[in-house]
Amino acid sequence: MVSRCSVYRHNGLGKRRIAAANQNARSEAASPLGLPPSFLHSAPRDDLQRRRREEGEGSNLRRVEVINTREIGVSASMSSAVGAQAPVPEGSPGSPRLLLEPLGCALLLPPLLLLLLLALAWGLLLVRRRGVPPGPRPWPLVGNLGFMLLPAVFKRCIWSLLRLQRCAPRPRDPSRYSSQVVLEYLSRLYGPIFSFYLGPYLVVVLSDFHSVREALVQQGEVFSDRPRLPLISVFTKEKGIVFAHYGPIWRQQRKFSHSTLRHFGLGKLSLEPKIIEEFKYVKEEIQKHGGNPFSPFPIISNAVSNIICSLCFGQRFEYNNSDFKKMLHLMSRGLEISVSYQMMLINICSWFYYLPFGLFKEIRQIEKDLTVFLKGIIREHRETLDVENPQDFIDMYLLHMEEEMKSNSNTSFDEDYLFYIIGDLFIAGTDTTTNTLLWCLLYMSLNPEVQEKVQKEIEKVIGPDRAPSLTDKVHMPYTEATIMEVQRMSAVVPFGIPRMTSEKTTLQGYTIPKGTMIIANLWAIHRDPAIWENPKNFSPERFLDEEGQLIKREHFIPFGIGKRVCMGEQLAKMELFLMFVSLMQNFIFTFPKDAKKPIMPGKFGLTLSPHPFNVIVSKR
Ligand code: HEM
Repeated sequence: MVSRCSVYRHNGLGKRRIAAANQNARSEAASPLGLPPSFLHSAPRDDLQRRRREEGEGSNLRRVEVINTREIGVSASMSSAVGAQAPVPEGSPGSPRLLLEPLGCALLLPPLLLLLLLALAWGLLLVRRRGVPPGPRPWPLVGNLGFMLLPAVFKRCIWSLLRLQRCAPRPRDPSRYSSQVVLEYLSRLYGPIFSFYLGPYLVVVLSDFHSVREALVQQGEVFSDRPRLPLISVFTKEKGIVFAHYGPIWRQQRKFSHSTLRHFGLGKLSLEPKIIEEFKYVKEEIQKHGGNPFSPFPIISNAVSNIICSLCFGQRFEYNNSDFKKMLHLMSRGLEISVSYQMMLINICSWFYYLPFGLFKEIRQIEKDLTVFLKGIIREHRETLDVENPQDFIDMYLLHMEEEMKSNSNTSFDEDYLFYIIGDLFIAGTDTTTNTLLWCLLYMSLNPEVQEKVQKEIEKVIGPDRAPSLTDKVHMPYTEATIMEVQRMSAVVPFGIPRMTSEKTTLQGYTIPKGTMIIANLWAIHRDPAIWENPKNFSPERFLDEEGQLIKREHFIPFGIGKRVCMGEQLAKMELFLMFVSLMQNFIFTFPKDAKKPIMPGKFGLTLSPHPFNVIVSKR
């Protein structure tokens, strides 16, 4: 409660006044907070009038208005101002100024320190930003996450400003906040190379093919590390393949994993029967729905996951296995949550990860469940390992690990590392290919004329009964062009997997400091109107020449480029071709008549999945 009172200050103080002031000060010293009572209570009106009479109206008095308060939390600025106005000579033992100073200082210190820290952070930021690619102005400490932390009403205002500059999407466009759309608009504002701050971390986004090629290929040695962000470290411990640091350990582990997967058929005809066998189960499951609309998501993800599970764990899971279904759900949910704005807060303060509520709690539970599942499988393998007859990736790794440990006590091959590699293969091998196949089904049901052309080619080259083979691929350019066009449009891994510079460098004239996180915006490259004619149109023909033969286009890079290019590229291409052709050979996919078309940019969660949709199948 704020009230006003008037205090009169004389230019020269009389004896009586000093005595009164000293008495005042004694009683003030006894007040609970060391605050003079006159600051806690309004001075009685008649007392003031009496003082006015004593000191004489019209003498050289100066009237000072002071805001007084009964509340204990008297503002620090006020207490210092009041100190200056107190009617007591400076330095006298009972002076309220002296009494107030420690309190005023104590109150002032934290905000001053905070201001100082912010100014320091701001200064450092300005120095660090010198020469780096342009971008939105960051806030100290939170960087451009500040925007995310704003209340919705402010976000809407900023977004409206962007819209005024014709940079932001239409107000009713439901995809306006999806990450790839936001980054696309930022690149329109700042150019194909721009930067922003994720908390205190500098991120540079490359949205055109030339800068991506220059960085990831021509300067591959500098741009091949993975970021050391708290969000990444907390989940991956920087182990495995996907998020391991660029160096000898990553090289050894990737080389071993790639050659072992090849041993079990990756990229070879010997894997074909496994994929064809898996399709039989897919067909059975699809037929169960008759002519009713259904979501293809659970069937496709189980099928795709079974391929990588066969290679890694030596086992497949039935489509009605509820535990496995739960794992698949947790995996895609985990990927979705891990790139949410809330999770980004972990980059500002890593202990956010341990918060006992919301998405933080959910992601910890997901991590725990997936860990129990994968560690259980590794334990079973260790207990039943047949040294003479290794059956799958885990067996081979355990054997190699024993060999390595005998000769090298510092080897990076251990059970912990195996756990992270298995996690990488299980997640990377399931989510990416599943989403690509789902996009294929969505685009086919929305573009029946393309579907028909694919089916005609299948009829001509394979016929209705024989199972497809990889050897058919060269004779089926239209089908291959269709898969490529789906991959171009959907850009299932829209920003690749973030890289990090291992030393300071320059890129297209800009300074890129050591430790900068690099995002290669594959989504933007796949939709760059300077490369692709009518990039928003779905047209497999863009991958065909005038004779209908396939054209390899260097700007088509769904698996990334450079030293960290996707390790499962051959496996993914095999699965995509064999599964897609089998589906098209056996069924016609249509979009339910009254159903709403799903929002096309998709649902971003490290990978880009289509929003839930149903299809209706009819037998061919
Ligand atoms: C359509 C399916 C797939 C797509 C679009 C895809 C895309 C990608 C992309 C863009 C990267 C990042 C490359 C970079 O940093 O430049 C990547 C990395 C990786 N992918 Fe895939 N991927 C697919 C399927 C698979 C499969 C089936 C596997 C399983 C074997 C796999 C395993 C990996 C691994 C281990 C890495 C990390 C490589 C490294 O850091 O050295 N991917 N993938």
